[in-house]
Amino acid sequence: MTGPQTPRQPARRTGPDDAARAQELSRRFAEVYGHAPDGVWRAPGRVNLIGEHTDYNDGFVLPFAIDRSALVAVRLRRAAEQERPAGQDEDATGRHVVDLASTYAPDGGGLSRARFRIPGLAPGSVGGWGAYPAGVVHVLAGLDGVEVPGFELLLDSTVPVGAGLSSSHAVEVATVVALNDLLDLGLDGPEMARLTQRAENEFVGAPTGIMDQSASLRGRAGAALFLDCRSQAAELVPLPLGRHGLTVLVIDTRVAHSHADGGYGARRASCERGAAALGAASLRDVPEQADLTGLDEETARRVRHVLSENRRVLDTVARLRAGDVRGIGELLVASHASMRDDYEISCPELDLAVDTALAAGAVGARMTGGGFGGSAIALVPEVRADLVRGAVVEAFAELGHRAPEVFVVVPGEGAGRVR
Ligand code: GLA
Repeated sequence: MTGPQTPRQPARRTGPDDAARAQELSRRFAEVYGHAPDGVWRAPGRVNLIGEHTDYNDGFVLPFAIDRSALVAVRLRRAAEQERPAGQDEDATGRHVVDLASTYAPDGGGLSRARFRIPGLAPGSVGGWGAYPAGVVHVLAGLDGVEVPGFELLLDSTVPVGAGLSSSHAVEVATVVALNDLLDLGLDGPEMARLTQRAENEFVGAPTGIMDQSASLRGRAGAALFLDCRSQAAELVPLPLGRHGLTVLVIDTRVAHSHADGGYGARRASCERGAAALGAASLRDVPEQADLTGLDEETARRVRHVLSENRRVLDTVARLRAGDVRGIGELLVASHASMRDDYEISCPELDLAVDTALAAGAVGARMTGGGFGGSAIALVPEVRADLVRGAVVEAFAELGHRAPEVFVVVPGEGAGRVR
């Protein structure tokens, strides 16, 4: 199988919206904490174009960073704040305390806040969204020679929560890029991807792969990230949608999903069982035409999905390299069928979104992300975008499903400092 080719590194571009959001976040930060932050960092959510449940099988993925992101304003505690004033409880002001606040408060208004001390930080000790920055701190503080001081953080995110667009990874990645800069850790994209994956696996407790963090860290405007999840070699494959009169719609079914629930872990376990039965360390080492008849019927279907999905990623990349953007549509459709029938991670709402989008003129559509809910994507001619959106909304209403959110996403810049 041919993997990613020579990486290219075009300059990063951050949009004017990010600059304005960062300025507003700095102002809020000063209101909340009484002083200015040291800086503001940004990390996008992602959409996966193709290559689903292949990452933890050491396979290939092709996600892109989207134009929706988490911003964090951060200020490290200063030396003067590290001395505990006489009689004062260390929990209140000490050097090891991390204060978190988020503008996202589901009950409306106000801020959602959390606080923890770094020493003794253990999985399960910080709940809710605070587990994402805490997981990153936990992993960084465990690195040789790294001391993480306390800090204050204010989060604002435009990545919809629970839509399968990696809102949680965006928070983890924004935190790791901020701490990498502020503590001068010198970590590169692949290293930060591994560390945030560990935060997710070891602290948050979700057995996820490395795709989402990599897209958020290493994505670039106008391109998809072709990633070999075994070596972390990556290639930015241009995705000139506009030039081909195309756009990508996200259809958020608003069916909740969680990768800490059993379905994701069960699929992962099936793949490990399948690889072991076939005498391979991972499914990456199993040839595409391998004889699966010795496996039980269910495991064989899981394995078949992964093997065929890796092939579809390579075919998609080949078509994009050849400038055939419309030509990837049929591969997206085949990917969805494989997830629906072989991997069994779709749901009626995702199938309805895909089928309706295709019937209304999309050139390709598939569920994206871990599955069991979340979002589908549709590759649609720009001129039909409104029609597709309308058809999907109507189909959901007819069947009495909750109204979906349908919106355009643009391949955007990966994570970095905004101000
Ligand atoms: C979630 C996980 C990823 C990946 C996808 C499925 O998004 O976080 O690591 O496994 O599911 O492709």
